[in-house]
Amino acid sequence: MNTMTPQSLAWSDAMSLGHPLIDDEHQHLVALIARLQEAANEDLATALEAVLDAAEAHFSAENDLMTATSFPPRDCHIKEHEAVLGSLRGVARRLARGEREVVRRLAAELAMWLPAHVQHLDSALTHWLCKLQHGGKPVVLHSGGRTQHKTRGRGDSALAIA
Ligand SMILES: [Fe+2]
Ligand SMILES: [Fe+2]
Repeated sequence: MNTMTPQSLAWSDAMSLGHPLIDDEHQHLVALIARLQEAANEDLATALEAVLDAAEAHFSAENDLMTATSFPPRDCHIKEHEAVLGSLRGVARRLARGEREVVRRLAAELAMWLPAHVQHLDSALTHWLCKLQHGGKPVVLHSGGRTQHKTRGRGDSALAIA
């Protein structure tokens, strides 16, 4: 059953980078962020924790790939991951004090941030990984699916929520 609201984040081919592991993890994050956007008040803590757990695991995997391959702009990318995790943890603490509205704002910010981050910073990483492995950029075939959210073109900045 599809209970998504029109504003909820949805996967689009524009986020496919041609790296199966990273694409799978991004799809998982998209689903969890959409779940957070749609969560009832009583489900906010569980939904936020799921996003935080998945983000920690995914960012750690990307950080390891960047470090292991000496990806040149890794410091900037790793710092952005850390900033987002800091925002998520800060909002989780505020939710524990009863602040729900900040979670709603965080969910909306994440829904805009993730596609931009994927298309800018993560895309550069997957190109780097593909070049190292195969000597060229990955070929990604897009089916022309709808993009649910336009990015802000600020893929090198972190969330506006602390
Ligand atoms: Fe990333
Ligand atoms: Fe990523």
